[in-house]
Amino acid sequence: EKQNYLEKYRPQYHFSPASNWMNDPNGMVFYIGEYHLFYQYHPNGTTWGPMHWGHAVSKDLVHWEHLPIGLAPDENGMIFSGSAVVDWNDSSGFFDGKSGLVAIFTHADTYPDSNHPRQRQSIAFSKDNGRTWTKYVGNPVLQEESIIDFRDPKVFWHRDTNRWVMVLAAGQTIRIYTSKNLTSWEFASEFGEGHGSHDGVWECPDLFQLPVDGDDNQKKWVLFVSIGDDPSLQEGSRTQYFIGNFDGNSFVNDSSQETILWIDHGRDNYAGVSWSDVPAEDGRRIYIGWMSNWRYANVTPTKEWRSAMTIPRVIALKTTEEGVRLVQNPIRELQGLRVENISIRNEVVVPGVNLLSNVNSNTFEIIAEFEMSSATEFGFKVCKGRKEETIIGYDVKNKNFFVDRTNSGEASFHDSFAGKHDSNLISQKMIKFHIFVDRSSIELFGNDGESVITDLIFPNEENKQMELFVKNGEVKLHSLELYILKSIWR
Ligand code: FRU
Repeated sequence: EKQNYLEKYRPQYHFSPASNWMNDPNGMVFYIGEYHLFYQYHPNGTTWGPMHWGHAVSKDLVHWEHLPIGLAPDENGMIFSGSAVVDWNDSSGFFDGKSGLVAIFTHADTYPDSNHPRQRQSIAFSKDNGRTWTKYVGNPVLQEESIIDFRDPKVFWHRDTNRWVMVLAAGQTIRIYTSKNLTSWEFASEFGEGHGSHDGVWECPDLFQLPVDGDDNQKKWVLFVSIGDDPSLQEGSRTQYFIGNFDGNSFVNDSSQETILWIDHGRDNYAGVSWSDVPAEDGRRIYIGWMSNWRYANVTPTKEWRSAMTIPRVIALKTTEEGVRLVQNPIRELQGLRVENISIRNEVVVPGVNLLSNVNSNTFEIIAEFEMSSATEFGFKVCKGRKEETIIGYDVKNKNFFVDRTNSGEASFHDSFAGKHDSNLISQKMIKFHIFVDRSSIELFGNDGESVITDLIFPNEENKQMELFVKNGEVKLHSLELYILKSIWR
């Protein structure tokens, strides 16, 4: 079982499967001291294939232990995406009055009399902390004959109405169902027509409540909706969110119908959903996304395995100039990976002087705060070799962060991979970068997580140089911390 995780491009502190293909995170739940992470998994190949739920557990969301496959295909079909909950009060009757885990997922097969795809919702339960699972004899528990794309159930307990709520992707809307016992489900409402982006099929919804600006008396509901790849658009698959209210029956969007909000401005953060049952004392809403894009996920240049998850991120709501917006930041547990530290304070950065010329690494974190001056652009060039570099910068004129992977390394596997990705507007005087680089990925959290860009890169392994750069003028660097991060696999 021990892996070296030293293959070319293999992330050192991100979750990736020991071998073979992975896509969406599934069934994330915290139970008896463990965070569970299941994931869409094809155990017999490095491209998408008959889906299983792979499984791993962690005590800190950073170090993972791989476990045997949680759910495998059966007579009802493949196991597509879904969620897991703790049934604390044995509402299902599976646990002899005790508590246990219930997984709610999509069974995908075809109609027996035709080859048309069929997607139905099923459940399974575990009495041994997720180690073994029993599929419910009454599966599937929810089906709608007329809806073709009908998948990815995310279930949570709704305290005010004292019942379970399921959000489910149906074509290009979200359908909401409710249940007292997880086995029988009733339709409650549908949301989405005319709202947000309809650039592709809707997938992997999540619905949860968060305080606005940390104020528990002022809470809003957040709806995540991933959108599948559409060949006519540049971006490939990506994830939007809505902010509004939910009364246990229906979701009401606060924004105008045309407003489109993206959780990430890079290309590689898809199907993200949050952990269920994180203890109230902790209070965080934590999510993880699949760090790839359906546009090219099957052809990225890795050999033994394919894909990694993003680092776990804490999400919050913040009032900004444009209104209430989602902000996301790395979980604090990642600080335990820091092994070496370089610190710079109060320097004026000028063109031609590289303050990071003696640092060599491709697994690191940077926290840096700048005050704008005459420069038109500044930031970092990372994973730099003789010919390649990835630029993570702030563009003063356009008022946005960007990641430019045009010249980052291997990109020939897909036409649409190379490119520059701009974030939303950030127009403050102080510009703050929080960056995570892990051999084949860049995650930028700009200005305390108001602006996020997640991008894969495939540079030469020797590309470990970096540069703090400035263009057409100077910029004031208030502080910079650079930490080399250690591997979680050794
Ligand atoms: C999203 C998705 C889900 C589906 C799963 C299949 O990436 O398409 O809608 O359940 O992947 O692997």
